[in-house]
Parts: sequence; structure tokens; C-alpha cells
Amino acid sequence: MIENAVIVPQEASRDSETVTLKYRGQTYELPILVGTEGERAIDISRLRERTGLITMDPGYGNTGSCMSAITYMNGEEGVLRYRGIPVEDLAEQATFKETAFLLIYGRLPTRKELTRFSVMLNDHSLVHEDMKVFYQNFPRGSHPMGILSAMVNAMRSFYPELNDSSEEVQMTVTRLLSKIRTMAAMSYKISRGHTVVYPRPDLAYCANFLNMMFDSPVKPYRIDPEIVNAVRVFWILHADHEQNCSTSSVRLVGSARVNLYSAISSGIAALWGPLHGGANQAVVEMLEEIRQSGQGYKHFIQRAKDKNDPFRLMGFGHRVYKTLDPRATIMQKVCHRLLSALNITDPLLDIAQHVERAALEDDYFRERHLYPNVDFYSGIVLRAIGIPKNMFTVMFAIGRLPGWIAQWLESISDPNWKLNRPRQIYVGQTRQEYIPIDERE
Ligand code: ACO
Repeated sequence: MIENAVIVPQEASRDSETVTLKYRGQTYELPILVGTEGERAIDISRLRERTGLITMDPGYGNTGSCMSAITYMNGEEGVLRYRGIPVEDLAEQATFKETAFLLIYGRLPTRKELTRFSVMLNDHSLVHEDMKVFYQNFPRGSHPMGILSAMVNAMRSFYPELNDSSEEVQMTVTRLLSKIRTMAAMSYKISRGHTVVYPRPDLAYCANFLNMMFDSPVKPYRIDPEIVNAVRVFWILHADHEQNCSTSSVRLVGSARVNLYSAISSGIAALWGPLHGGANQAVVEMLEEIRQSGQGYKHFIQRAKDKNDPFRLMGFGHRVYKTLDPRATIMQKVCHRLLSALNITDPLLDIAQHVERAALEDDYFRERHLYPNVDFYSGIVLRAIGIPKNMFTVMFAIGRLPGWIAQWLESISDPNWKLNRPRQIYVGQTRQEYIPIDERE
């Protein structure tokens, strides 16, 4: 393991005030936990034991599932920091590898550590040749997210567990971070029937991935620094986002003490959904639909507001951000910079800008605090780079991997680590008799 890694979070402090709960003539004092940024939570960890009650919170909008020292976000003020460092500063100055190190090991690497980290990633970038055969047997047209989730889960069979547990974690983390690029690019090449391009040790993380995606024996890929920069920023912006749906899946599945590959595979499966990571693909599809329909963007804004129409404005709204998603502001700038550097005029960008302006001025969106999220512009960026639509969410998964790993490491190192198991309020049929089949009406 890296020395002095900051993996286990400190305990939250306790407020001097408590919350009083009165129930059936009894009074209970519930402690309040306070985080380092002043966030407060009622500690109900002994509620059922003391009162017989559970709490009900569908969608977990009011439920804290863990204490974490990885990512701080404030949805009201549009703040996002990894280990205390604003995401804006990382997007401006850091490499993706440094960001991954920061999330996983709790601090920025020294130059020596970063070099060692790069060497390790290079040493483990190849994928077991037998895995290639595996890829070739997925039916044509399989979604790359389904393939990636299956392949990551399959890694445990190709790379069996090591006896030394700290070496095992270190190796698994390195393999995942390095091989995910190779596996993602390989799935694209194989899906197109093209020759697989192997990783090159002389290329940095982002450039290496782009080369594996786009290089070919007939047309060598020219690495453009503007494209490398866009991928770097895209991955940094997606690197962690505290307890979102896929990260919670990684922690929940991980709580059963499955291996890291399986926990990450469950995160990839959750990320695939259109309400989560699948939104960047859904945004581009929506913009294409607006363009092809010829009905104009205003028609679609009306549809998004119509309660009888299931249509939603993709790339708008967020469970936590009730103001502009800070990642969306950065992604919008990257989008303009890239398109102008590559001299691309994308009609979808025009439509996106009209939709954004109209929605931001519309009472429906204002009253519900619906602002563009990171996915609104990221699809146009990926399209300009040449990433096919069905690979958009795979790009998100590569970026999110360091966050998933950091959250998993933190959860397994937590002294209060427990199998995650929510409860329910049963509202089904009360006890009834079994009726033999011949006696049923
Ligand atoms: N378009 C139109 N109306 C919307 C949208 C939208 N994109 N998002 C929310 N609303 C409306 C809802 O209909 C609801 O209206 P009501 O109060 O009149 O019933 C209100 O806003 C609140 O919506 P909820 O669904 O309760 O909000 P929630 O926090 O559960 O949803 C979500 C967040 C899933 C992201 C939602 O905004 C959405 O579906 N957005 C589009 C998909 C998307 O962009 N997802 C990416 C999220 S970012 C990420 O995962 C990287």
C-alpha cells in the first residue's frame, strides 16, 4: 500500500443539542452528528432497538448511509471538492492520474509517488489474451456497458486472489485502473470487427486510451492535445460524486464482502441507467430528435412540462444540485474550446444552447430548481472527439472508477463496517390460507 494513505475517515463530532422524539408516552434524545463542513444528521442508529420504529425515506433523499472523507458537495451552493480540493482547480491543473491518486489515497502524490504509480499502471495495462475470446462471443450490437460490467466481474477469474491482503488490494486497484481503458477500447474495436490496438507505455493515461480507440494499421491516429485535454477534464469531473446511485451500489454490494471487481461491476450496471450515467447518451439522442423532428426546441420544452407526457429534458435536474452543477459550467467551456479548436460546427450545440436558455428563463424549471447537469454538454464533447454514442457511458465509467475504488476502500476499512440491509414497511396481504389448485375459482 502507499505509505500514509488516508483511507479511514475521522468520526463526526456531536452537537451539544439533541433532537427530542416523543412516542407512546416516552421521550428519547437523539444525538446530532456534525461533519467538518457543518452538515448535520440525526443519529438514528439505535432507533429501532430503543423505540421499535424504523424511518421511511423512499429514494434515500434524507438518509445518510456513511461517514466519508472523500468528496464534499453542496447542492444549494454548487460546490464540489475532492479531498477538500475544488474540482475547478483540479480540472484546471491536475492530471487524471493525480486526481485518481488523490481520491484513492487521500492526498496528492509526490513526484516520486506519481512516477511509481504511472509505472505500475503501465505494467498492468495489458488484458489477458483469453479475455479477447470472451469479448468475441458477445452478440453483435451488445451494449458496451453490459460488456464492460460482465468483463470487470470476470476479471476475478482471470486474476485470482493473492494471499497477502494488502498486496491483493493494491494489485486489484492497479489492474482495474489500468485495464479498464484497455477493456473499453477493446470492446469498441471488437464490436466494429477491427484489429485490437495494444496499450503503449510511452503514452500518458488519456492519450493511451485515445490511441487504443482510434489508431488503425491503415490510418495512424494523430494525438491532438486539445482532445487529450477534453478527455482529461471529462474524467476529472466524473471522478467522484459522493453517495450517488452507482457509488451506493458499489458500497452496498461491497458490504457483503464481495471482491472489488464484483463491487465495481455492480457500479457499472447502475451507471448504465438513463437517469444516471446513461443521461449523456440520452441528451444527444434528445437533441437529435429535436433536430430531426423539425418541430423546434420550444415544442420539446412544452412536452417536458406536460405531466401527461413522460418526456423529460435530459441533462436537466439533479437530485442534489438545486443550482447550476459546477461540472456543467466547466464542461460547457470545454465544449466551446474543443469545437473551436477542431473547427467543428455542430448543429446540436446550437439546439443545446437554445434549450438551455429557454429552460433557464421558464418558470417551470426555475420553480423546480432544474438546471443543466454535467451531462448536458458532455455528450457534445464526446461526439466531437469521435466517441460513438453507445460508448458515452463507458467514458463516464472510466472516469468514475477512482471514486468507486476510493469509496469501496473507505467502506471496508470502516471499523463500523456492516452488511447493508434496509428494512421496509410491509403493506401486502395479511396471513391467508393456501388453497389447493382444484379448489380455486
Ligand atoms: N425535465 C422535466 N421535468 C423534470 C426534470 C426534467 N429533466 N427533472 C425533474 N423534473 C420535474 C419532475 O417532473 C418533478 O415535477 P413535479 O414536482 O411537478 O412532480 C420535479 O421536477 C422534481 O423531480 P424529481 O424526479 O422528483 O427529482 P429527482 O431529484 O428525483 O430527480 C433526476 C433527479 C432523476 C436527475 C431528474 O431531474 C431527471 O430525470 N433528469 C433527467 C435525467 C438526467 O439528466 N439525469 C442525469 C443526472 S446527473 C448524473 O447522474 C450524472
